[in-house]
Amino acid sequence: MSQDELKKAAAENALRFVKEKDVVGIGTGSTVNFFIDALAQSRIPIDGVVVSSKASMQRLMQYGFEILDPNSVVHFPIYVDGADEVNSRLQMIKGGGGALTGEKIVASLAKKFVCISDASKKVDVLGKFPVAVEVIPLARSFVAREIVKLGGDPVYRQGYVTDYGNVILDVYFSSILEPIKLEETLNNITGVVTNGLFARHPADVLLLGTEEGVKETSL
Ligand code: 5RP
Repeated sequence: MSQDELKKAAAENALRFVKEKDVVGIGTGSTVNFFIDALAQSRIPIDGVVVSSKASMQRLMQYGFEILDPNSVVHFPIYVDGADEVNSRLQMIKGGGGALTGEKIVASLAKKFVCISDASKKVDVLGKFPVAVEVIPLARSFVAREIVKLGGDPVYRQGYVTDYGNVILDVYFSSILEPIKLEETLNNITGVVTNGLFARHPADVLLLGTEEGVKETSL
């Protein structure tokens, strides 16, 4: 099976977690796009969606979903999103698509984070994929220098501006043995908006598309 077929299988499997009248949190990326398509085709009568990015919002609007303001909801049952890497503790690196800040905010509002991905994203140790760090433009060089002191190798994502007008540094670490500590340390650098480590609050469920079918892991 192709990587896209595995993503699609995981995305379609996530429909099991959506109930009538739910508000559903929606992540960003190609795997999530499969989920949006499946959700639309399922015709499950949900009460609306809370979205993590302009890109996902556009796709959802084309299907006619009701888009809810995150500020108007206290919490909702489920958030569905992909990952760039996920370990056995369901801690993730996200943000390859640059939507990490919206993703972290919307995920924080959900009772259950369902991560959907293909088998290539499963790793023993996080860190091969760079950690995206969203930075206020004024602080870009300062933050990059601070990250070098931490042992990271920051690469400016040229020409990319986030939904909130900020820039992204993609930071390479040799391996991330203490993801919670690194997530907090990066967040503490002045000028950092957020970073793509989802370790303090990992996913609750992983649906992994494999050649042997979709494998579920729950915390
Ligand atoms: C976007 C993300 C995506 O979830 C992550 O990059 C995975 O993307 P894809 O589903 O296209 O493989 O975090 O910011």
